[in-house]
Amino acid sequence: MKDTLVCKIDKDNIDLLKIKEFAHILRAGGTVIFPTETVYGLGANAIDENAVVKIYEAKGRPSDNPLIVHIADKDDIYNLALEINENAKLVMDKFWPGPITIILKKKDIVPLKTSGGLDTVAVRMPSHPIALSLIKESGVPIAAPSANISGRPSPTDEKNVCEEMSGRVDGIILGGDSSVGLESTVLDLTGEIPMILRPGGITLEDLTEVLGKVEVDPAILEKNDNIVAKAPGMKYTHYAPKASVYIVAGEEDNVINKINELVVEGSNNGIKVGVMCNNKNISKYNGEVIGLGENLNEIAFNLFKVLREMDKRNVDIVYSESFENTGIGQAVMNRLVKAAGYKFIKA
Ligand code: TXA
Ligand code: MG
Repeated sequence: MKDTLVCKIDKDNIDLLKIKEFAHILRAGGTVIFPTETVYGLGANAIDENAVVKIYEAKGRPSDNPLIVHIADKDDIYNLALEINENAKLVMDKFWPGPITIILKKKDIVPLKTSGGLDTVAVRMPSHPIALSLIKESGVPIAAPSANISGRPSPTDEKNVCEEMSGRVDGIILGGDSSVGLESTVLDLTGEIPMILRPGGITLEDLTEVLGKVEVDPAILEKNDNIVAKAPGMKYTHYAPKASVYIVAGEEDNVINKINELVVEGSNNGIKVGVMCNNKNISKYNGEVIGLGENLNEIAFNLFKVLREMDKRNVDIVYSESFENTGIGQAVMNRLVKAAGYKFIKA
């Protein structure tokens, strides 16, 4: 167990002295958890191999899984990546700071420990004021995966991050809820046509408008042994609560009937059943029902928190409604499908 320095910082009135204390930990090779607009990140100096190793240890994460390098100034990408192509410039111009990560060929300064052995590097400039201030004060690029134990849902609020990570890192900055609630879009810009490796806050529609043709890694929604996910992190079971999750898909009325049938069946067998749904349907279900929100943005914001809440309520099985696969719904369905381990029930 480590002694973890935990401190609350107001994102609208940043206490620079406190930020400097955490920046000092990072510069000295330690680990600090900090809020971003997507999810909380577990940071360390991206160009210090020994520091990066501590991230993998704290998360219990396989070290072939590459990390995103966070910067506080767009120009810092020139220190990390070899060729900043036109597509990269367009994305940086239009969407940074913000919830999108780009992949380019890496410079030697990025250790293979950070890039998971690849010759590419993932870079993101977050928009959260605490993240920006911390990176700037530390004076080094910060590698930061989501601040969860490997395989668990990414933390998006203060309480969950503290419960899961106290004692595993040197510092935790608490800065309120993450506004997006799901991790950044990961966009591979090393090929001729940009490819989304992980859907996120910046949608396919947003990117197509700026870049023209954009492909989506086919591994994103399907489980197919012939398809290998191009983002190594996407191949692991992810975002999983302790309960078994099933997605029930079909016409809305059929879904509601099917889920209610399954809830009855479960409780007859002494199983505690949870239901995740659009808020408008909450009153139509029995069991441990939790609404995810009224629209896709709210559902994205709440999904990980609700998955964790299901664990706290000791639910054995969760049945979830299925959501529209457009806009940020693509990211929602990607995380939900992974949480469910690809288990669908047709209603
Ligand atoms: O929103 C986010 O991106 C958060 C916050 C903290 O910024 N970070 C995050 O990092 O989600 P992580 O490590 O949990 O996810 C990084 C994803 C993984 O799926 C990883 O495989 C992929 O990005 N990735 C990173 N570098 C890559 C590379 N060079 N090539 C392909 N995929 C890469
Ligand atoms: Mg993660």
